[in-house]
Amino acid sequence: MASENGSNDQILMYAGYILIALAVLFIILVYLYKKGKKKQENLESGADINKVAAAFHDNSAASKPSFSTVELKAETATSADYQSGMVSSSLVVLTSPEVNGLRFEDLLKAPAELIGRGKHGSVYKVVCEAQGMNLAVKRIKDWTISNDDFKQRMTRLNRVKHPNVLPAVAFYSSKQEKLLVYEYQKNGSLFRQIHAHGNQSRQSFDWSRRLSAAARIADALAFMHEELQYERIAHGNLKSSNILLNENMEPRISEYGLMSTVENIQEHSLFKEDTYAFGVILLELLTGRTVLNEGLDLASWVLAVVSEEWTVEVFDKSLIREGASEERMVNVLQVAIKCVNKSFESRPNMRQVALSIRAIIEDDEKSMDASELSVTRSFIDL
Ligand SMILES: *[C@@H]1O[C@H](CO)[C@@H](O)[C@H](O)[C@H]1NC(C)=O
Ligand SMILES: *[C@@H]1O[C@H](CO)[C@@H](O)[C@H](O)[C@H]1NC(C)=O
Ligand SMILES: *[C@@H]1O[C@H](CO)[C@@H](O)[C@H](O)[C@H]1NC(C)=O
Repeated sequence: MASENGSNDQILMYAGYILIALAVLFIILVYLYKKGKKKQENLESGADINKVAAAFHDNSAASKPSFSTVELKAETATSADYQSGMVSSSLVVLTSPEVNGLRFEDLLKAPAELIGRGKHGSVYKVVCEAQGMNLAVKRIKDWTISNDDFKQRMTRLNRVKHPNVLPAVAFYSSKQEKLLVYEYQKNGSLFRQIHAHGNQSRQSFDWSRRLSAAARIADALAFMHEELQYERIAHGNLKSSNILLNENMEPRISEYGLMSTVENIQEHSLFKEDTYAFGVILLELLTGRTVLNEGLDLASWVLAVVSEEWTVEVFDKSLIREGASEERMVNVLQVAIKCVNKSFESRPNMRQVALSIRAIIEDDEKSMDASELSVTRSFIDL
């Protein structure tokens, strides 16, 4: 009896062990199942670029059916990069069919020429023979933005299209550096156009073309600011050397949104920093002078001269020679002075600036019609 009881106890004991073991096994299985599922989700989110591609297809189907996004693994990325979870160590090609075959290795192998060096990085001209095109590659160092934020920002920016804003065709992101790839614009920059002294191309940059360039830039900035107001992405580094000229000599703003995460600038003043920078560009167009010290010198020089009521002194001599309307030049100067007001609350937003410049252009055209009319009249009178 005692042994029977003993064996019953033993059976109960073993059954208890088995139950516990089953419970543990069950918990382990549930854990493994959940982990497996998560991994699958990760894999899916790793393919988010493809989703983005699909989104782009939907988004741009109406305007640009050939639009596509491809992610290409960079063979040059070290395995350490991948191990540290930097799946983004690859070139993300954003645009047009011409660059669809572009790979990161092509960029690295192609001959590159340094064409600009600034505070935040350098710009290279890269000749890609395989694509039969020249690219400008902007290399940004020490930008403390996470890879995910950078990716998100670039794909967002890519969805906001304006004919006077140069889109990136591809980007690359690693912890150490960011690369932005643009189509190379062979007609140079607005800076060169304004300041190429003693050159025929400078003479051809007359008043109406300067005014029209100003209007296009203002329209483009106003559009970008409105589209990106919730994301709070301003240009952040606007200057005449960042405004490139396409084959028709129309301005295309480059490097939009690459520098606007500067910590020491209050968020709500970001767009007004662009307004200030645009004011300085207007002053360059009006005076033909270069910005000496980050915009400050030109602005304070102009303000000093204007406050002494020597307003005409500030204007570019070639505009005076050409016989540009002094009234309209003063109107543009007034807009510029509002833009470079020291207090950002007093600066107009870019939509207001764009409207003011459009109004000045209308006046200019009306007065030209009027003078043509009077020429015709006097001809008829004869
Ligand atoms: C004039 O412009 C041409 C091309 O635009 C350039 O190659 C040349 O160096 C310029 N000359 C001067 C004196 O700036
Ligand atoms: C701008 O580019 C076009 C086409 O490449 C060229 O014909 C024109 O001469 C260029 N203009 C200037 C001022 O460089
Ligand atoms: C800046 O704006 C304020 C307010 O509109 C104005 O009173 C002030 O004169 C402006 N400053 C300059 C230098 O124009």
